[in-house]
Amino acid sequence: MFDKEAIKAQTLCFIENSTDRNTTLLEISKMLKNEVYHYDWVGFYLFDAAKDGLFLGPYTGASTDHTFIPTGKGVCGQVAQHKQPMVVQDVNAIENYLSCSINVQSEIVVPVLKDGKFVAELDIDSHSPAPFTTNDTELLEFICQKLSVLF
Ligand code: SME
Repeated sequence: MFDKEAIKAQTLCFIENSTDRNTTLLEISKMLKNEVYHYDWVGFYLFDAAKDGLFLGPYTGASTDHTFIPTGKGVCGQVAQHKQPMVVQDVNAIENYLSCSINVQSEIVVPVLKDGKFVAELDIDSHSPAPFTTNDTELLEFICQKLSVLF
């Protein structure tokens, strides 16, 4: 369990006091990783329309080889394509998946939209099998909705 309301309040505080987008995204990724036991890697991918793909932005957790992900590739690229959240309770059960580490069991990705346009996404990897509930989706959708003001 995690304190969803406290995390939401802290997120709003980071956004209200933001002077630099990347700093704020890093603060949020750090907080989420610290506060939620089943979040093992928390990061943002930023959409580049000219390159039709996602560049790795601020993150907390192990370094990853996936610094650029074309639209449509992996879970992240599918979220960029469809602009809808994706919850993968078992990464071994899907084909279009880009592995970062053998420890990752599950993943959740939520888009950030600005005036209906896809601009970024929040990507979370977990070492726990099937850990995500509606509590996660509700919290992360709240955060991503609030983040659109920074784009
Ligand atoms: N697993 C992702 C790649 C990014 S890493 O999780 C950091 C995917 O399938 O798109």
